Amino acid sequence: MTLPALLGGSPAFADGLPFARPFAPPLARVTSRLAPSYDRGILTNGPLVRELEEVVATRMGVGHVVAVANCTSGLMLALHALAPAGPVLLPSFTFSASAHAISWNGLATRFAECDPATFHLDLEDAATRLDGVGALMATHVFGAPCRPSDVERLATRVGIPVVFDAAHGFGATHEGRPLGSFGDVEVFSMSPTKPVVAGEGGLVTTNRADVAESVRLGRDYGNPGDYDTRFVGLNARMSELHAAVALCSIDEVDMHLEIRRTIAGRYLDGLADVPGIATQAVDRHDSHTWKDFTVAVDPDAFGVSRDLLVQALRADGIDTRCYFDPPVHRQQSHNQPPVDLPVTDRVASRVVSLPLYRDLDAAVVDRVVGVISSVHEHAERVAAG
Ligand SMILES: Cc1ncc(COP(=O)(O)O)c(C=O)c1O
Repeated sequence: MTLPALLGGSPAFADGLPFARPFAPPLARVTSRLAPSYDRGILTNGPLVRELEEVVATRMGVGHVVAVANCTSGLMLALHALAPAGPVLLPSFTFSASAHAISWNGLATRFAECDPATFHLDLEDAATRLDGVGALMATHVFGAPCRPSDVERLATRVGIPVVFDAAHGFGATHEGRPLGSFGDVEVFSMSPTKPVVAGEGGLVTTNRADVAESVRLGRDYGNPGDYDTRFVGLNARMSELHAAVALCSIDEVDMHLEIRRTIAGRYLDGLADVPGIATQAVDRHDSHTWKDFTVAVDPDAFGVSRDLLVQALRADGIDTRCYFDPPVHRQQSHNQPPVDLPVTDRVASRVVSLPLYRDLDAAVVDRVVGVISSVHEHAERVAAG
């Protein structure tokens, strides 16, 4: 076993291994798809946006799809449409935008714990925090479905709507059913690291005509066409260029997801026997997009902390991300009033996401796994600095 670069070994990736690379469709296909709109002078909110909405609705088996500028604005408009009558309960172990969308609507956030094995909203903990809550938001963390049927059941029990932050989830299925039609509304992201890319873009998916109508109005300032705005909306329209990229990306998404699942499988096999490294638990009836391949480091069993592992990987040229650390309830924008979430704090301090994208062949994945194993083998010396 080679010595970690942190201890003087030669780096596994002397030229560096980036964390992510967008799975962008070929430019020539994008330009030919865009040309008919572009040549007619239609640059935004035109036939390509409409086509994108139809393609996604068919694929996800959902009644309405509204394309928007990004997932954040989609979440803001979705919550505006639902008009919760009280605070919105959500996990703190999510991306900041989930909570930002709540606050931008003038609503209070109420944070709940995450499950340390799946990283999803802990429904048992959430059930204890529902008093007075106006809506539930849950994130399909890293692209694994977050038990959406159970989330729906919990919300139905207390008669509140559900929003799924599905930013990572395009192409995932729960018990054979694609994400997109769970809860009252789901919102997907198409920014560069996501399974489908538009450059920037979001998709609001719902079976509720009233929600779709409100989001459609809201993405256009709240203006139904007569310039008499019905409420304070946004400019959250999608351009034809972004829709062209998204449509070409969707053409390739199944192949893209297959590649991601193969790479994730290689990581799962390679890391299975490394003490102290736990991979995200996924329900066997579900499929994952592996938007991120994230492990949790148990410092006692592994021998060094997550932060030291990150340092060792960096010395070997391997770029990583610690999503979602700090968790939202610890961020300056959302840390008042303080809330005690010890499980979330522990999970956030232990997670690290590893590189995963098209160009990673089995040999590269094996080398990353080799570095992690080697850090464990030499844990005492690594920890001693
Ligand atoms: C869980 C989650 N929600 C929302 C967003 C925001 O998406 P967008 O950048 O499309 O606004 C992200 C972005 O990465 C995310 O990870």
